[in-house]
Amino acid sequence: MLPHLPDHFTAVVTGANGGIGSAILQRLLSATQTGHVIAVSRTPIADEHPKLDTVITDITTADGREALCKRLNGRPVHLFFNSIGVLHNSPQSVQPEKRLEQLDETAFAQVMHINAATPALLLSAIKPSLQGKHPTIIASLSARVGSITDNGYGGWYSYRASKAAHNMLMKTAAIELTRLNKQSVVLCLHPGTTDTSLSKPFQARVPTEKLFTPEFVAERLIDVMAKRTTEDTGSFWDWAGKPIPW
Ligand SMILES: NC(=O)c1ccc[n+]([C@@H]2O[C@H](COP(=O)([O-])OP(=O)(O)OC[C@H]3O[C@@H](n4cnc5c(N)ncnc54)[C@H](OP(=O)(O)O)[C@@H]3O)[C@@H](O)[C@H]2O)c1
Repeated sequence: MLPHLPDHFTAVVTGANGGIGSAILQRLLSATQTGHVIAVSRTPIADEHPKLDTVITDITTADGREALCKRLNGRPVHLFFNSIGVLHNSPQSVQPEKRLEQLDETAFAQVMHINAATPALLLSAIKPSLQGKHPTIIASLSARVGSITDNGYGGWYSYRASKAAHNMLMKTAAIELTRLNKQSVVLCLHPGTTDTSLSKPFQARVPTEKLFTPEFVAERLIDVMAKRTTEDTGSFWDWAGKPIPW
């Protein structure tokens, strides 16, 4: 499945109850190459599986990241798959902006915190499990709209900015992690428009063939990761295995 990683590898999946995160979790649990999967979510994971271990916490908080760090206790992690992210959210009135006057500083800070700061803070928290000599893939879900080069339509200020910042943080972490683990591969991944609660309000104009199931996306993203080597660390890929310009 993932030739860069050893047999019986250890994986951590964050956002494990999200649409894409849960599909990745299922795919990892069913793979013979996987030894142990730690699923991290704010809400309990419905599955029971001999390979599955869960950490029920909010990893957007320092306490949540500490709980994950304690559970890992410095053990090597071979696959860290981050699938948390927010585009809209009613309790905190987060909505993608169409115009400048819709920018709201609280909502902006929330989106930046979840989509950009948290993935980097997570790497900081679990750094003892990433450094060393073991092969490790760190994949974090980004979005094509975070590409500054690709921005032809505008809008979605906070989400675009958060994913661009996410990409910069991952690229920077890739450079540091290469010094600490020559076998590390850090990837930003764009899943394509996927039928999850995140995309639900924005699916009306998406042609059926361009709206993917989470299961299809999980399969595609695993294939994209399978083709990467240490030379690819600090890069940005779409679900089809094509590189995306920053
Ligand atoms: N769906 C798409 O079309 C699409 C397109 C491009 C990029 N992406 C990216 O793919 C990633 C996964 O998205 P998805 O489509 O699977 O969305 P989703 O079903 O909404 O899952 C996102 C997960 O992020 C975590 N999360 C969201 N808000 C949070 C908050 N306030 N505090 C703590 N955790 C929070 C939750 O994990 P738990 O419930 O497990 O706690 C949530 O289930 C995101 O980074 C998104 O930007 C998605």
